[in-house]
Amino acid sequence: MDIYKALENDHKELKNLLSELVDLEEQDSYREVLIENISTLLSSHSRAEESVLYNSMRAIGDSELVMHAYKEHMEAEALLKKMELKEVTGADWTKTAMELRDALLHHIDQEEHDVFTEARKMFSAEEAGQMGEAFLKLQSEIKNQGFVKNSFDLVVNLMPPRFVDKVKSIGSGLGK
Ligand SMILES: [Fe+2]
Ligand SMILES: [Fe+2]
Repeated sequence: MDIYKALENDHKELKNLLSELVDLEEQDSYREVLIENISTLLSSHSRAEESVLYNSMRAIGDSELVMHAYKEHMEAEALLKKMELKEVTGADWTKTAMELRDALLHHIDQEEHDVFTEARKMFSAEEAGQMGEAFLKLQSEIKNQGFVKNSFDLVVNLMPPRFVDKVKSIGSGLGK
């Protein structure tokens, strides 16, 4: 499976979960399970996407588009965290759920159009296939890790590539 297909599969699943989320009542007992599922999918997807696709694009040269997408990852995760920590209640709960859904729909749309178009110019079909396999492998590893490690990986992903191995080796004890 190439990287585009692998990312699109997650995007579809995320969209379904988000439309379930905005339809839920705040008191619904399924809420916590659903937020947890969105959080696991979103964070593992975003970290693996940054590592495999974004960092490869940055290494070749397009950093503006990629840094914009990084910022949107952080914004979406901050909104979701608010809901996980129950910082929003009452009418604000549905408002925040809708804000999160709208932000991610916009992000996904931009990714599947602008980012993929750029990436297709940069990488061969063979490279896209290798990136797809790498993405799936890394994502399943990340799903088995805790929140600390996920946050740490976001910071690591933002670093200049030549520092990444060294920082990873220092931080390898975190989140275990
Ligand atoms: Fe994505
Ligand atoms: Fe993304």
